[in-house]
Amino acid sequence: MPIPLTRSNVAVVGAAALVLVAAGPARAGDAAAGREKARAVCQACHGEDGKALIPGAANLSGQQKEYLVQQLRAFQSGARRNDQMSIVAQTLTPAEIENLAEWYSSIPIIVQMPK
Ligand code: HEC
Repeated sequence: MPIPLTRSNVAVVGAAALVLVAAGPARAGDAAAGREKARAVCQACHGEDGKALIPGAANLSGQQKEYLVQQLRAFQSGARRNDQMSIVAQTLTPAEIENLAEWYSSIPIIVQMPK
């Protein structure tokens, strides 16, 4: 049943929409921009597709976005250290971290249990 559009209903719906906007897109990354950045900076070690190309670098495709963001922030703050990643992370803005995490987490992976 449709909700009648009275003045007070509109105010309530409007306030709810504002809350959703504040909680939602602020954390959304731009996967296409992340892919560009990955191609420019990360691909030599992690691959553009997130499949690691050097020993010791992690596979990033299909990883949880939140985990990727947390690890990149940790490399940036020094809470996590690695000769290569600590340097790379210093060059990233918060928006680039969101975009890169969006890109790598958006790549579908297939997991198969061993028989
Ligand atoms: C010169 C090689 C190199 C480049 C370039 C590089 N990485 Fe890494 N990355 C590594 C290595 C090596 C590790 C493993 C670090 C460790 O052992 O702690 C790593 C780890 C990570 C991790 C943690 C993965 C996990 O499972 O905990 C993330 C996230 C990550 N890299 C993202 C990136 C992103 C995004 C870029 C591009 C902006 C990038 N890396 C560029 C070498 C690289």
